[in-house]
Amino acid sequence: MRHELPLNNGWKTLPRPPVEFLQPDFDDSGWQTVRLPHTNLELPLDNFDPASFCFVTGYRRVLTFDPAWSGQRVFVVFEAVMARAEVWLDGIFVAEHCGGYTPFEVEISAEVLAQGQALLAVVADAEEAPDIPPFGHAVDYLTYGGIYREVHLEVRPARYLATLTLETPALNRGHPRVQGFLYLDAPWTGELPLVGTVRICDHQTGEERASGAVGWAPGDRQSPYELEVPGALLWALDSPVLYDLVVDTDEDRLVKTFGFRHAEFRPEGFFLNGQPVKLRGLNRHQSWPVVGYAMPRRAQAADADLVKFTLGCNVVRSSHYPPSRHFLDRCDEIGLLVFEEIPGWQHIGGTLWKQVALQNVEEMIVRDRHRPSVILWGVRINESADDDEFYRATNALARRLDHRPTGGVRNFAGSRFFEDVYTYNDFVHNGSNQPLEPRSKIARAKVPYLVTEHNGHMFPTKKADTEARRVEHALRHARVQNAAAADSGISGALGWCLADYGTHADFGSGDQICHHGVVDQFRCFKPAAAFCASQRDASAFGEVVSRLAIGDHDAAVLKALWVFTNSDEVRVFTGNLFVQTFYPDRKRFCGLPHPPVLVDDLIGNAIENEPGLNRGQARTVKAFLQAYQRRGGMPSLRYLVPMFWVMFQKKWKTTDVYDLYTRHIAGWGAGARSYRFEGWSRGTKDWEQTLGPTHAARLELTCDTTELVEGITWDVARVEVRLLDTHGNEVWYGAAPVTLEVEGPLNLQGSPCRPLTGGSTAYWLTTTGEKGTARIRARTDQFVSETAQVTVR
Ligand code: GAL
Repeated sequence: MRHELPLNNGWKTLPRPPVEFLQPDFDDSGWQTVRLPHTNLELPLDNFDPASFCFVTGYRRVLTFDPAWSGQRVFVVFEAVMARAEVWLDGIFVAEHCGGYTPFEVEISAEVLAQGQALLAVVADAEEAPDIPPFGHAVDYLTYGGIYREVHLEVRPARYLATLTLETPALNRGHPRVQGFLYLDAPWTGELPLVGTVRICDHQTGEERASGAVGWAPGDRQSPYELEVPGALLWALDSPVLYDLVVDTDEDRLVKTFGFRHAEFRPEGFFLNGQPVKLRGLNRHQSWPVVGYAMPRRAQAADADLVKFTLGCNVVRSSHYPPSRHFLDRCDEIGLLVFEEIPGWQHIGGTLWKQVALQNVEEMIVRDRHRPSVILWGVRINESADDDEFYRATNALARRLDHRPTGGVRNFAGSRFFEDVYTYNDFVHNGSNQPLEPRSKIARAKVPYLVTEHNGHMFPTKKADTEARRVEHALRHARVQNAAAADSGISGALGWCLADYGTHADFGSGDQICHHGVVDQFRCFKPAAAFCASQRDASAFGEVVSRLAIGDHDAAVLKALWVFTNSDEVRVFTGNLFVQTFYPDRKRFCGLPHPPVLVDDLIGNAIENEPGLNRGQARTVKAFLQAYQRRGGMPSLRYLVPMFWVMFQKKWKTTDVYDLYTRHIAGWGAGARSYRFEGWSRGTKDWEQTLGPTHAARLELTCDTTELVEGITWDVARVEVRLLDTHGNEVWYGAAPVTLEVEGPLNLQGSPCRPLTGGSTAYWLTTTGEKGTARIRARTDQFVSETAQVTVR
């Protein structure tokens, strides 16, 4: 019977090894012992040499074969090695694989198996070889080196079930149905047909829901299958029900997890199970600080959770390459749609390069064609020029392998169109113009249309930028998403991008970082993330994206502030005084499910409580005070003359007016005020936040898990450290050096000491192979956080 053994522990590694390392008798006792996923170089957080990890790394490991495997076939499966790998067994070259993002496998020959043991040596070549996508020209991302995904050994019968196609057609009043072809690794050579069964089982409970027979006549490699599953539940965004397709022959078993769902792009938009769904999403790079790409399951899954549950998106693009299977597994589990694409960035290389690109199409689709989350294959090189022959070939290959639609991301209008969906990076918005181009101008036809990127380099925004810039960054995301939502010809839009990412010196801010994320590279929120989160429906969210600190604004004038919330209304108070209720701005943001709330009047009705003021006088006084605030000085006659009249009527002196200003607005030269914001929906308070004069008050440490599990490899926890003020808000310009203290069986990725960025940072802690409980604490000069505990099982 088929089985799998993880091969992630006990690798010996050395950068730039001598060629003798490929030989079994080479002495590697001086080499470092590591576990996979492994990065070939741990990097500083920024400002590093982007070529520093582009070298050959040697990996060695002894494989031990069980005599019980004799007569079976044994494979070593690599989930990804950057960017070119050579695999050697006992000093003999076995295979080469080009391309750093897709899996490949090598078979161990019967002779080697008979030896009982063999030395596996891997050359992991992270050079940016011009024959391998995405290389050959500038690339706006880094391709960190190493065997950065997991490796396992797989024992299979002599003729094994290699792969399958899987389609769940639209429900036309019938029962949910799954169909496709099952493929053996090679044509069946037995004299009698090979027979088997296909079963559909509940993914959670294993309970069988339907079954049928399949068979391969001599000479057949493929066998069709089709099963109806009465009563099966559909895979939907808020109830992503999964089933297992279990194929059994006498000697083998293949299991693929899938969902019954029908996804379709039409010129009128995207439809899931026949219902229109406006796609709202982000692009994701799979990189992290320090370790680049080398992260195991939990961190991959955490990114999917962040996109879906925290940021309220329903789609993610795996820009610009196939992501880890763990990321996609999680997308299947939680109902997050995926646009998956082949590696590449703007540049199309020569013949060899194109061959690797086609191979990437195949490896990506074969790996992931059972997944309910994947709704679109990206089969063009991101933002490349037209190349009819090449793109006819990538599309034809994709269509031969799977029924799903293809897309191909462009950055120009009127491109030659061989795909099913016109996917376009729309960067037209500059803050003051239209948010998006019309489809008619770009695709020039009424075709299915998706905006695959927006914002990004148009407004790079650092976590610690000024409030005005951070808020404008968020509003740009809001404007584009609003425009996409309001246009029925646009299936949706995916912002550039989820997290800040490492990049080449030709891009970024000169620090090797592209600050384009709605979260920073540590996955800490910028206000743009608060905007995303405010669009979710699952749980209440509200954040006032200001600190009300006039000194952070030009001419000390804070004209208005925005609240990103999914609550129905925002009530504002100052002290015990109710100021006013503010509502979602449906005029400016008519398309969004939860328009931002503009708070442009912090005096509100409070002025009417001033003794002896009638309504008209109150209005005059308020207009005057606000004009004074806007201008940062004496307003124009339009406000001044009516104000003089009120002063005359009330016998006020100038000092009385100053007094009013101080009480209702304050500002330059007077004490600042505190305000309480409350989000309310249907008579219930969802959240509250207080802002006003404050100072740093404590250091908060949160860990995304209390338990780590040594499974097929090491596990990882994310620890976020935030400096909070007296009101519990993140101190937006907190830059104190912080040190993370860890006692117990966990290792820290990178240095324990670093400055906070815009009030926060995060660390990743990894298991070491030892069990026990670790205690984690952060400190700055001023504060010590509480201690968190993480237990390793
Ligand atoms: C796009 C590109 C992305 C990223 C982005 C920055 O043109 O596809 O990879 O570079 O620009 O805004």
